[in-house]
Amino acid sequence: MCINEDFGKIWRKRCKQDACGEILNRLSRRIFMQGNVRPDTMERITTKALAEKFIDEQIAELRAQIGDKKVLLALSGGVDSSVVAALLIKAVGQQLVCVHVNHGLLRKGEPEQVVDVFRNQMNANLIYVDAVDRFLDKLAGVAEPEKKRKIIGAEFIRVFEEEARKLDGIEFLAQGTIYPDILESDGVKAHHNVGGLPEDLRFELVEPVKLLFKDEVRMVGKTLGLPDSMVFRQPFPGPGLGVRCLGAITRERLEAVRESDAILREEFAKNGLEGKVWQYFTVVPDFKSVGVKDGKRTFAYPVIIRAVNTTDAMTATVEDIPFALLQRITARITSEVENINRVLYDVTPKPPATIEWE
Ligand code: XMP
Repeated sequence: MCINEDFGKIWRKRCKQDACGEILNRLSRRIFMQGNVRPDTMERITTKALAEKFIDEQIAELRAQIGDKKVLLALSGGVDSSVVAALLIKAVGQQLVCVHVNHGLLRKGEPEQVVDVFRNQMNANLIYVDAVDRFLDKLAGVAEPEKKRKIIGAEFIRVFEEEARKLDGIEFLAQGTIYPDILESDGVKAHHNVGGLPEDLRFELVEPVKLLFKDEVRMVGKTLGLPDSMVFRQPFPGPGLGVRCLGAITRERLEAVRESDAILREEFAKNGLEGKVWQYFTVVPDFKSVGVKDGKRTFAYPVIIRAVNTTDAMTATVEDIPFALLQRITARITSEVENINRVLYDVTPKPPATIEWE
């Protein structure tokens, strides 16, 4: 089993309150009816040719299921929802309505990439919702990690629901359910039942990649022409940067998390660590330390770097980042990111630490 499948399982178990598009999948309880069991004879999609065959079959099936009706999809920009969007665009074009909720906790460039890839390049019917102020206002002053998660998850559903209510004639809800979601699903509930959404907003589900494992979803995504940065992106928690801006989130520290994360990702990519290290990110705590810049005393926040490897996210080891690279990243972060005067490297494995700080 590939690491990402394992990873998916664990985080689904621990996290019922996600903030991105895939989150709706987890909130929903799936039905173990026919069609939800991967046949033993189903060939693993390991090549582009097999992916093309799958895509053709799915397009035919999606057209048969949807007819001339409309489909709604929460598009986070994560692998699963992006692949579902790309498949549906091929199958039913403008009958698909994608909703991308920018909750302000995404990484640098992510909302822009969703708009660019889906609206500009794929001509998708995309509703972009700028909900940044709304989320940050709700989160103001909330320091407890699980409370932050709950607020983000609940607010996401509320925003999505509001958008759904504005639309006429939607009969289907597409979800990026993948096979590990089904294997991990803990209940059999009624068909058309989407958890999180109110009773009067129940749609028939469209789940074209529900029998696929993560590596197959990636192969299909690549074959559909999605960019590598979307298809092969490292795991990113639903509550996003919200759990990396420790304690009560402030815009100032959130910006520092976003900017330092972008620098870390850029340097990892330049130095061959992208795709090699399982997960890497920065964290900004809510305390300051004294420093000195241009001969003047500073009192600013530190950035903590985390870079770990794992097969199942239950345990993790720390990447042995070359010291020269750490120094370079430190120099860049302290000179390019506002309100930061110190960089630390978290060398703690899991256990005893968790991967995320919150
Ligand atoms: P921890 O911190 O528990 O993280 O060692 C294990 C993996 O799960 C991810 N993670 C989350 N993913 N929603 C998610 O979708 C969450 O609330 C959440 N919390 C942690 C984390 O990034 C790591 O890959």
